Amino acid sequence: MHAPTPDAEVLSEPLRSRWSPSSFDPAHEVADGDLDVLVQAARWAPSRGNSQPWVLVVLRRGVGNHAAWCETLSRGNAWVRRASAVLVTAVRTGPDPDAEPGSKAAREVPADYACYDTGQAAAHVTLQARAMGLHAHQFSGMDLDAAGGVLGVPGHFRVLSGIAVGRHLEPTEGDLVEREDRPRERRPTGEALRDGAWDRPWPSA
Ligand SMILES: Cc1cc2nc3c(=O)[nH]c(=O)nc-3n(C[C@H](O)[C@H](O)[C@H](O)COP(=O)(O)O)c2cc1C
Repeated sequence: MHAPTPDAEVLSEPLRSRWSPSSFDPAHEVADGDLDVLVQAARWAPSRGNSQPWVLVVLRRGVGNHAAWCETLSRGNAWVRRASAVLVTAVRTGPDPDAEPGSKAAREVPADYACYDTGQAAAHVTLQARAMGLHAHQFSGMDLDAAGGVLGVPGHFRVLSGIAVGRHLEPTEGDLVEREDRPRERRPTGEALRDGAWDRPWPSA
C-alpha cells in the first residue's frame, strides 16, 4: 500500500521503502545518538562549492520550543505534532554580517543553489532515517516567518521546510487512514524524463 510501489521496486534500499507517512507513534522517542546520526547525514550531503548553506534546528517532541513552534504549522499539517522529532531547515539567504571578511560565511550564496543544497541535505536525512528503521516526512506547510521568529533564526537565514521523523503507526480511524491509503503516484516517465534531447522522451526506444 505504501512502499515500495510497483514502479519503485527496481530501486535499492533505503530508496525503495521510503515514503512520507503522516501517522507517527506519539509514544516513540528518537534517542539523542540517533538524532545525531540523522544530522550527520545532512552534514555529509554534497553542496555547491561545499558551501553547506543551511542550518537544521532540531526539535524533540514536547521539549523546549517544540510546542510554540507547532503553533506555526498549517492546519493540514497537524500530524507533524506527533512525530518524535522535527528538523527545521533554514537556508542562508545572504552573507553572515558578523563573518570574517573573505571567509566562506561572508560570501554570497546564489539563492537557487542554496535551496538546491538544502533540499539535498534534507533528502539525505530522509534516507538515513529509513536506513535506521525510522520514517521521515518533509513539509513546508507552516508560517515560515513565525517559525523563524520562534526559533530565533537570524536575518540572513530563512526557514524553508521541516523534516518530521519518527516511527510509523498504522492509523485505524480518522482522516489519516484515507490519507495514507492514497496510492503513491508519479508523472509518467515519458513526461518527466528525456533521452538526450528535450523532444525525445525516456525511454526513446
Ligand atoms: C519541499 C516539500 C514540501 C512538502 N510539504 C508538505 C506539506 O506541507 N504537508 C505534507 O503533508 N506533505 C508535504 N510534502 C510531502 C509530499 O507531499 C510527498 O513527498 C509527495 O506527495 C510524495 O510522496 P512520498 O514522499 O510518499 O513519495 C512536502 C515534500 C517536500 C519535498
